Amino acid sequence: MPQYSININGEQKSIDAPEDMPILWVIRDLLGMKGTKFGCGKALCGACTVHLDGQAIRSCSMPVSALGIGKITTIEGLSDEGNHPVQKAWVEHIVPQCGYCQSGQIMNAASLLNQNPNPSDEEIEQAMSGNLCRCGTYNRIKEAIKTASNS
Ligand code: FES
Ligand code: FES
Repeated sequence: MPQYSININGEQKSIDAPEDMPILWVIRDLLGMKGTKFGCGKALCGACTVHLDGQAIRSCSMPVSALGIGKITTIEGLSDEGNHPVQKAWVEHIVPQCGYCQSGQIMNAASLLNQNPNPSDEEIEQAMSGNLCRCGTYNRIKEAIKTASNS
């Protein structure tokens, strides 16, 4: 089985994995970080969103062999103590319901604000439209992103 050296949350990790193993399963099963969720497995729901060099990607649909020297950040590595502006705004607005989709929502929102620190309502809706929430927390997500953008 091929061996890979991957950078995740600022640490270099060595793993043995099939070349077509999605990064999602590297994160969850090989590295034991369970914050990133499996939803659809087909890049359709956003539950598995992590950052690759600061930009949101769907970890269910990217094989480990495609990662190269890219740096992965998961919800566990977004901030030291859960104090990223997006995380603080999520707490302030009591966004989660069941919580399943929320790490993906937070990672996508953080990526949006990396690229566009003051998004309009339309830009927020467009950027977040691929992250599904079965509990319907969309309005609180939008308000929390606006709070985080002003912090
Ligand atoms: S699990 Fe990756 S987008 Fe749904
Ligand atoms: S909070 Fe339940 S799926 Fe989004």
